[in-house]
Amino acid sequence: MQFFIDTANLDQIKEAQALGILDGVTTNPSLMAKEGIAGEENVMKHYKAICDIVEDKVSAEVIATDYEGMIAEGEKLAAIDPKIVVKIPMVKDGIKALKYFSKKGIRTNCTLIFSAGQALLAAKAGATYVSPFVGRLDDISSDGMILIEDIRLIFDNYQYETQILAASVRHPLHIIQCAKIGADVMTGPLSAILQLLKHPLTDSGLAQFLADHAKANSK
Ligand code: E4P
Repeated sequence: MQFFIDTANLDQIKEAQALGILDGVTTNPSLMAKEGIAGEENVMKHYKAICDIVEDKVSAEVIATDYEGMIAEGEKLAAIDPKIVVKIPMVKDGIKALKYFSKKGIRTNCTLIFSAGQALLAAKAGATYVSPFVGRLDDISSDGMILIEDIRLIFDNYQYETQILAASVRHPLHIIQCAKIGADVMTGPLSAILQLLKHPLTDSGLAQFLADHAKANSK
């Protein structure tokens, strides 16, 4: 399973990249706003800065929701760097835009997916990735993992090449569940990725090894 980090924070992206396990980055307008990035020029510069840190696959979201606007904005975003994946919202004109970019060989990520039907439409339109938001479904007492299972089944039935990018991942258990189901990618915060490291028996086991080593070498 590929690991993407879901942030526009350059320090966190650098930290994840330095771990050597990072496959890509997802951003959204809220995450860009959180970093105080505003204005077209600054937004473009920030995406370029992210591309300069990672090896590939930086999702950059269009703001337009009409076909012409999404095409114009998506083309500008794609021109920033070959690592850019144009992120398109799940709306009617978004389906047309996914088809347009697919024909042009520009990679896309269809965002705000909350049902299997939406994922199926995006796959038929040639999306490179679909982003089902598991955490936001859990937030409304709907099991986000059931959606990942349903999309996996549908995509496997018809060998769709569209990849399932499990988004809105909030904690390490989400990551494990996504891996068990067979999501192609998960995107989450650095904290969730780092929590995968943790186990109390690892901590106590290491402390014991170091104590025994120190004792044997102090003689
Ligand atoms: C996906 O690409 C989104 O940026 C993201 O995963 C949303 O996560 P949230 O529900 O934690 O805001």
